[in-house]
Amino acid sequence: MFVLYGATGDLARRMVLPAFFELAQHGLLPEDWRLIGSGRGERTDEEFVEHVRSALAEFGPDPDEGPWDDFAQRLRFAGGGFTADDPGQLLDAVATARKEIGDDAQLVHYLSLPPKAFTDYTRALGAHGLGEGARVVYEKPFGASPEGFRELDDLVHSVFDEEQVFRIDHFLGKEGTQDLHALRFANGLFEPMWSREHVAQVQIDVPEDLDVADRADFYDATGATLDMLVTHLFQVAAEVAMEPPVSFSADDILSARESVLANFRPLAPEDVVLGQFEGYRELDGVPDDSDTDTYVAARLFIDTGRWRGVPFLLRTGKRMAAKQQRVSLVLHRPKGPVNDVPANGNVVSLSLAGAGAVDIDVMAKKPGPDLAMAPARVSLDLSKIPGGEPLAPYVSLIHDVLIGDRSLFTTSEGLAQTWRALQPVLDARPEVHPYAPGSWGPAAANALTGEHGWLLGQTE
Ligand code: BG6
Repeated sequence: MFVLYGATGDLARRMVLPAFFELAQHGLLPEDWRLIGSGRGERTDEEFVEHVRSALAEFGPDPDEGPWDDFAQRLRFAGGGFTADDPGQLLDAVATARKEIGDDAQLVHYLSLPPKAFTDYTRALGAHGLGEGARVVYEKPFGASPEGFRELDDLVHSVFDEEQVFRIDHFLGKEGTQDLHALRFANGLFEPMWSREHVAQVQIDVPEDLDVADRADFYDATGATLDMLVTHLFQVAAEVAMEPPVSFSADDILSARESVLANFRPLAPEDVVLGQFEGYRELDGVPDDSDTDTYVAARLFIDTGRWRGVPFLLRTGKRMAAKQQRVSLVLHRPKGPVNDVPANGNVVSLSLAGAGAVDIDVMAKKPGPDLAMAPARVSLDLSKIPGGEPLAPYVSLIHDVLIGDRSLFTTSEGLAQTWRALQPVLDARPEVHPYAPGSWGPAAANALTGEHGWLLGQTE
């Protein structure tokens, strides 16, 4: 049984409800289930069904291309809001659903709410005894500052055990991100090279070409560092840097990824470049003197034996020249007789977008009479793997919640470590450089990468 708080809000409409229907299309929902939408307004079940149908019509998948009738008859709505003092219609709706599908149905609370509402709803879940045995899903950001994180974390742990909590970072649900551990640990080609002995630097580069016009208010209070760096980019860095998990079980993968966050060296402010695209302050909802970063580049070090001294270059920004999501391991030049291998001649790169892709840059003999070397690329589009049915990140993550698999979620301890690593930048915020829309961001970030430069932007 799934209770969706904020069921008529924007996030539910764009992401959660479509993901749920996609699970139905793939046959990945339990045999019997109910989804109770919770919201402040009053709606009948029928009106909620109509709402869901219109969300699907707008954001897909097409309701007519799936088991819509069966899906629709399992949707319920509980209006009147939900607070610690007043549960509205929710407790009745949960009791009725339990009668319909049985007391042993797993209860899942999905807080599809603005982060500032997490506290009140968590309290309300505790006050009405809905925490026991349940799973609970929190959207990002789980706390927007070190203090905010700690307060929320303490409150959540007063109602739920850590094992009940599923904090979403949808980058971890991407097919390409999951391939970082799949590819690495399943291939003799990759596992032995995954260390400082072979890797000169790692680049995690997520340029975006869109601006933030449709959510300028939210964005201006957040900025790229909080929206993307301390969340998605740090988690992906941990995914790259983790030690081999004991096994491929959910718990072992989770603990391998989250425990390496403790080895993130606190970022030195001089290793961070912030930017703001020109024209940002003219957007509706953005103050004329806003100092918000729409771009961040950072050089992170991870102090494990495996990665000591290897810079992890992290970059993201709005209104940049391209939209890409790339993790690249740049290899050292081989020692030996070939002395003209360029700095970026050997690169293993994964795209995290869509179903994911692997590209390997190698040096090869240029066909012809001479022994001359030329760069070449081997590419594997992971969507072409026979029988594969790529899942969108939200679909994959909600499925994991339903089966109780926490491997792709963040942990309380891990998040505490991400804030620890960011703290120096919060204490001494670097200056914000302007950059031209459609560019690769402030030139000041080029110095972070040494002789390698940023891989994206050189070849695009
Ligand atoms: C979100 C950020 O979490 O991730 C957005 O808030 C960003 O600013 C988005 O654009 C990028 O993710 P994706 O998977 O939609 O490209």
